[in-house]
Amino acid sequence: MSKQNESLAEHLGILKDRWDQALCNHDYQLAVVAAGVSRTYLFDDQSPVFRANPHLAQWLGSDACEGSTLILETGREPRLLFYSPADYWHQPPDPPEELLGVLNIDVFDSIDAIQREVNVCTQHAGQVAYVGDPSSAQGSLGEVNPSALINELHYLRAYKTEYELQCMRQASARAVSGHLAAASAFAGGASEFELQLAYLDASRQTEADLPYPNIIALNQHAGILHYQHYERAAPNPRHSFLIDAGARHRNYAADVTRTYGSDQAGAAQQTFNALVAAMDRQQQELVSKIRPGLSFLDLHEDMHHRLGGMLNAAGLIQCDGEQAFDAGITRAFLPHGLGHLLGLQTHDVGGHQIDTEGTTSEPPESYQALRLTREIEVDQVFTIEPGLYFIPQLLEELRASEAGQHVCWPEVEALQDFGGIRIEDNVAIRPDGVENLTRDAFAQAPGAA
Ligand code: GLY
Ligand code: MN
Ligand code: MN
Repeated sequence: MSKQNESLAEHLGILKDRWDQALCNHDYQLAVVAAGVSRTYLFDDQSPVFRANPHLAQWLGSDACEGSTLILETGREPRLLFYSPADYWHQPPDPPEELLGVLNIDVFDSIDAIQREVNVCTQHAGQVAYVGDPSSAQGSLGEVNPSALINELHYLRAYKTEYELQCMRQASARAVSGHLAAASAFAGGASEFELQLAYLDASRQTEADLPYPNIIALNQHAGILHYQHYERAAPNPRHSFLIDAGARHRNYAADVTRTYGSDQAGAAQQTFNALVAAMDRQQQELVSKIRPGLSFLDLHEDMHHRLGGMLNAAGLIQCDGEQAFDAGITRAFLPHGLGHLLGLQTHDVGGHQIDTEGTTSEPPESYQALRLTREIEVDQVFTIEPGLYFIPQLLEELRASEAGQHVCWPEVEALQDFGGIRIEDNVAIRPDGVENLTRDAFAQAPGAA
């Protein structure tokens, strides 16, 4: 068996054990895991690109399973009821042959036939759990998405298998190809639209392949956290370029952000470029602090302390960094969290969950947007994405508050056209240290120094 097949077999074995244990823990004999079906837009016959139920995608590593169902029964080999209709409008999906030997696969050409087979399987089973889109669940199928079962599976999703990690390395390499092409297109004066095309071309992806819509932001657009447009004309002058763009490999995501300053003259441009370099250093220092047992919330707070220091060093506040932190000033410049779990989903599930039972550790009032509050542990993969933004709405609120007196407003206003900065890497916690999937991919990219 090749190394890749070995790790896939091990991955599927781990999934089987997790499901067996979870079903047993919560007194289910059988689970029906449904991929789901795509839904059309209102009053239309068109639909968005289909994304499979991640509980099934974790087995199949693909979204090409619309209408299929996996039957998981304790002590039995999993059985995939694979939907592949005779269809001359679309290319029907091929059953995942590489999974034969681990899954029993039966191919069906109608969803009704799959439903009848599911009914046969569940008829004589004890307690049944249906895991899938509730609106597609049929009354007789059993309990729909029982939270005890889902909580356990979501909690465990944070611990990546070797195979999942391999997929994420591949996704990182793909994303980095796109990032390198986009960086050079920016240097050549490209518009947001052209940058997006350069990224897609170099990363060999269509928009539908992406894990999330790329954020391709020039100038002040970089201050819109999830900026969603691709302007056709390049702005003049060009100050900054923030690109948050990802890739997927067998449904596993990379989520990568880089920020570049332009070579325009001027004090504000110099300050911005120095801030980009400082953010890159701080980001790497934060990564170097990561170790099992550390609370992600503490690391997030560490970032705010560092940001206070950066604002002070750049001459954007009159007080020192610690005073800025205490006064809440850093939160106006950085309203999102330091990172989130990453995997089958860009914002992977279970980030606030601290045990298999579903107990949550909610972020404190001051950091409501923080998506990860778990303790750091081996086998987790998450992002580290500090940022610094000049967001008019938040700056107005800061100016109107008592803390606003500490801000050097002319200098801050001069940076509003630059939007902001974010540097985002994906890191895997390994038994022997931290693997930075993103920086490794940049270092290994063809032509890298
Ligand atoms: N690309 C979305 C995020 O960084 O969370
Ligand atoms: Mn992210
Ligand atoms: Mn991102």
